[in-house]
Amino acid sequence: MEITISESGCCTEIKVEGPLGSATAATKGSEVKEQIRQAYGKNAERKSGCGCSSETDGTFMAESYEGREGYESDADLALGCGIPTDLADLREGQDVLDLGSGAGIDAFIVSKIVGSEGSVTGLDFTPQMIELARKNAANGGYQNVQFVEGDIEEMPLPNGSFDRIVSNCVINLVPDKKKAFEGMFRVLRHEGSFTVSDVVLEGVLPPTVKASAEMIAGCVAGAVTRENYLDVVREVGFTNVTVQRERQINLSNELLGEFASKEEIKQFRDSGAAIISLTVTGHKA
Ligand SMILES: C[S@@+](CC[C@H](N)C(=O)[O-])C[C@H]1O[C@@H](n2cnc3c(N)ncnc32)[C@H](O)[C@@H]1O
Repeated sequence: MEITISESGCCTEIKVEGPLGSATAATKGSEVKEQIRQAYGKNAERKSGCGCSSETDGTFMAESYEGREGYESDADLALGCGIPTDLADLREGQDVLDLGSGAGIDAFIVSKIVGSEGSVTGLDFTPQMIELARKNAANGGYQNVQFVEGDIEEMPLPNGSFDRIVSNCVINLVPDKKKAFEGMFRVLRHEGSFTVSDVVLEGVLPPTVKASAEMIAGCVAGAVTRENYLDVVREVGFTNVTVQRERQINLSNELLGEFASKEEIKQFRDSGAAIISLTVTGHKA
């Protein structure tokens, strides 16, 4: 696996050659995470994102949160790939964890739903994101939200302390997805659940198409197949695992053609392989 980080327009792009999703060596994992942290640090400093959407058109993956109570435009860097908060069965009084909370967009929406009897904890390992999220919380007067700096693979959070976990377009970036879901299982209370929007792959993308898709839409380099993703979720003990929503991310031949050859694009189209944004829920009995 080879990782390169490069500047493209307004964005910092991470390119990974080889199977990031299946990386096992701890050193490779920490190298990947360091690159990711640097890339999102730059996104936070610019207050604009292109990690999981597109620098030219944020509609590739990110969906609009506008109009929801708690929507804060300063916290919306268009880095998501779904709206997990709509499907997470959130209720007043719950304690909710937002993994990879970025500038705080999901946390603020959850904050309004759980109210003053509930709480929201946003966890992110990029210091600039934590700083930006805390600033947004102070500006919006959010009393029931806290942002904690930490790695999803080593969550600095107590066992059984949350009713719900939400996460938007983050787990695909985590090298050891099993460790991430094990941690989620650990910090959830009994009868708790997680709802995560994420990017997965269907079939195998030719390497140049995968690299092109990463350049165009982001969040593809570390994505694993849907099957692999859901297997990990079940393996760590989650039950009632349901894909609540999914949509295919369409990348035109014209855009892919900027990076991949016609032959490679044809091979990709013929194979039926696809990039999927899905929102999945799992329960802890
Ligand atoms: C694509 S952005 C999504 C941000 C936010 N959920 C949103 O929708 O705007 C990914 C976020 O996850 C964070 N992240 C990535 N890997 C992480 C890890 N291993 N531990 C903690 N945070 C991580 C990044 O710092 C970044 O803020």
